[in-house]
Amino acid sequence: MLNIGSYDERIKNFDWNIAEKELDYHPGDIINIGWYCSDRICLMGKADKPGLLWEGSTGVEKRYTYNDIRLNSNTIAQFLLDLGIKPEDRVCLFMDKIPELYIGFLGILKMGAIAQPLFSAFGDDSLFIRLDNAQTTAIITQKKHLPKVRKIIDKMPYMKHIIIVDADPGKPLANREVAFDMAKAEKIETFDFHPTTAESPSVLHYTSGTTGQPKGVKHVHYSLISQYLTSKWVLDLRDDDIYWCTADPGWVTGTSYGIIGAFSNGVTQCVLDAGFSADNWYRFIEKYRISMWYSAPTAIRSLMKAGEEVIKKYDLSSLRHLASVGEPLNPEAVIWSERVFGKPFLDTYWQTETGSIMISNYPGMKIKPGSMGKPFPGITATVIHPETFEPFNESGKIGLIAIKPGWPAMMRTYWKNEETYQKKFQNGWYLPGDRSSIDNEGYFWFVGRDDDVINTGGHLVSPFEVESALLEHPAVAESAVVAKPDFVNMEVVKAFVTLKPGFTASKDLDLEIMNFVRKKLSPLAMPQEIEFIDSLPKTRSGKIMRRILHAKEWGEEIGDTSTLEND
Ligand code: WT7
Repeated sequence: MLNIGSYDERIKNFDWNIAEKELDYHPGDIINIGWYCSDRICLMGKADKPGLLWEGSTGVEKRYTYNDIRLNSNTIAQFLLDLGIKPEDRVCLFMDKIPELYIGFLGILKMGAIAQPLFSAFGDDSLFIRLDNAQTTAIITQKKHLPKVRKIIDKMPYMKHIIIVDADPGKPLANREVAFDMAKAEKIETFDFHPTTAESPSVLHYTSGTTGQPKGVKHVHYSLISQYLTSKWVLDLRDDDIYWCTADPGWVTGTSYGIIGAFSNGVTQCVLDAGFSADNWYRFIEKYRISMWYSAPTAIRSLMKAGEEVIKKYDLSSLRHLASVGEPLNPEAVIWSERVFGKPFLDTYWQTETGSIMISNYPGMKIKPGSMGKPFPGITATVIHPETFEPFNESGKIGLIAIKPGWPAMMRTYWKNEETYQKKFQNGWYLPGDRSSIDNEGYFWFVGRDDDVINTGGHLVSPFEVESALLEHPAVAESAVVAKPDFVNMEVVKAFVTLKPGFTASKDLDLEIMNFVRKKLSPLAMPQEIEFIDSLPKTRSGKIMRRILHAKEWGEEIGDTSTLEND
């Protein structure tokens, strides 16, 4: 029996109070995600059930029952409180996928602060921009990431505490640094969690746009309602599942479904904190008997590339249900997974701002490979005309995806940027910024983004951020950054660069600039290719026309160039 039962039945008379009732939540009540993801599961009789099974890159394992998760998150919450951190202060999690990240997230929420997870591969520039925007009070990190934090600490007077989870005992710490050892800390049996209510802020995730700095997407504790129910109905999480969400909690999939959805449903989830290799992933599935696997198209395409011989070495018969998110899932990947694993990856579509799955393929529903599926029950989604903002009357037309606001996990604003937030709405619709069509059976077919943001392996990269970093290199005069096609990552970053007088293009300079961006921003944002050119195409008003460079990379029509400077 599927959790969703039948999709067609569920969309009739849907009400979010289905989830509220299951969670025993009544409007106006206290609702705290940290409590729901640990204490409540223990109260339901699952205190001794494994909640988190963790394996590190050296093969070392750690296991936490729901009671361990409860006690450790209490302990972290109390530690933060004792430091003087206050409700709604921003506390950044800047760590690899170690247990402290997952449990620390719940601890932050328990004491009422706002969790700000940031991808641990971020360089000091990427880190600083986001911490500065949020005026973050504390950062929890590992000693391996400390040099990046120390490099920018003098620019952050608001940052009061750098909490190191693996500090060497006896080694002196710098000003503002403090050690916290989760394993050794005396466990706090009961913690009076902060009485957060539906609209209390919970998580601040940063996402990149075409222009301007990255935006802080503010979520609230009520998001639990959507995250819990979509995990149950789309990911079909059940009591006996062993669940593996491959996403890093530096990104929204890793929190909405890698923490909140999984733990609020009381399932056992596994985390592999190691780099990708087909062998290692299949070994992990076999070892832990993974039954539900939520991953991303880039990973699936990498597995396809690794071939089928390697699959035969492992027993993957535990797999029951597979889903994917982050970028277009090619029909070939769906068909391939059905053939080699006996189950197709079901595509799900959503974004940092929506907080939970919006459009998806559902267990039990007819799958059309290449389609993102249909709106989740309770979600009204359509495709609208890009100028009139009116829905089309006929199927098959390409327009903007539009969603009626009001589901529980919808962002509440962009941090200190209400103006940009308001621009995401037109004619009563929320516009995620993507283009799609809908077929005559109501299935959505993704077409592309409606902006210049690069989606590399499911991670959004702002061309503006990369261009800004490039300009800081002494040799670079001007730059334009666009997506370039790639089999595995779908898109990778490509930079067009003009050099300052006195510099000449060379392989060494090429590598030096790439490395420069990698260190400042992240490996994802690093251009995979740099093309040195004499001049960039510009409008008469001097704006660089990325569109033309993009079209060239993709072999597309260049389109209207009437505003071009040197035509
Ligand atoms: C953007 C959101 C939601 C978790 C990961 C990404 C693209 C997302 C799909 C899909 C085609 C997709 C969209 C979206 N995207 N899922 N199934 N098919 N495109 O979150 O970093 O906020 O990125 O990723 O362009 O707007 P994000």
